[in-house]
Amino acid sequence: MQRLDKIVSNLGYGSRKEVKALAKKGLIEVDGKILKDSSINVDPEKSIIKINGEEIFYRKYIYLMMNKPAGVISATHDSKDETVVDLLEIDHQVFNPFPVGRLDKDTVGLLLLTNDGDFNHRMISPKWHVDKIYYAKIDKEVNEKDQEAFKKGVVLDDGYKCLEADLEIISSSLEGSEVRVTIQEGKYHQVKRMFEACGKKVIYLKREEFGGLILDDELEEGEYRELSEEELAILNEN
Ligand code: URA
Repeated sequence: MQRLDKIVSNLGYGSRKEVKALAKKGLIEVDGKILKDSSINVDPEKSIIKINGEEIFYRKYIYLMMNKPAGVISATHDSKDETVVDLLEIDHQVFNPFPVGRLDKDTVGLLLLTNDGDFNHRMISPKWHVDKIYYAKIDKEVNEKDQEAFKKGVVLDDGYKCLEADLEIISSSLEGSEVRVTIQEGKYHQVKRMFEACGKKVIYLKREEFGGLILDDELEEGEYRELSEEELAILNEN
């Protein structure tokens, strides 16, 4: 059970004060009864709530896909930097979403945000082996030896041996390379550290896919949208 004003406000129908005013005017109906007192507790999953005659649909969880821009951090709050949550509309911020895993400040691309803790856990737990695909620009030539090293499991600077990873070379020359990397883990700075272990530097990094979900190319950097039912089903298959 939750307070009616909280439920209605969280669904984007104004502040609690505004919702109180709507109720006073007799515009809020719960299970066929006009409720003038919005402090009353109701069960949002069972009751039919109407505002001005229109049914509103309660949801507990939200799932968002963002094309993260460079320069913002994957966190909910930060004392100095802008965060991915700061980029959301207030209608979505009221659900208290958080990023599913992290992308570095300078990394762009597909980032999910949700307020569903179980979903988050399934997506980021190393047990579930969710594929993440990154497009990267590298400062040097990338070759077959690097591909073999990625396949065998690169050993990072702290001695950690990565799981097998796929390294596709899109183009490669002495001036630099373009590659696509598929990993199933999400260690701190993982892709950058994998290349560092091979004596190379990542100069641009974009996540293109996460758990079978492809970044919507209609989303400009900094834009986001809700996931469709089909997309959520793809993720839940992981
Ligand atoms: N690997 C990195 O090095 N950085 C990211 O942001 C994601 C993967």
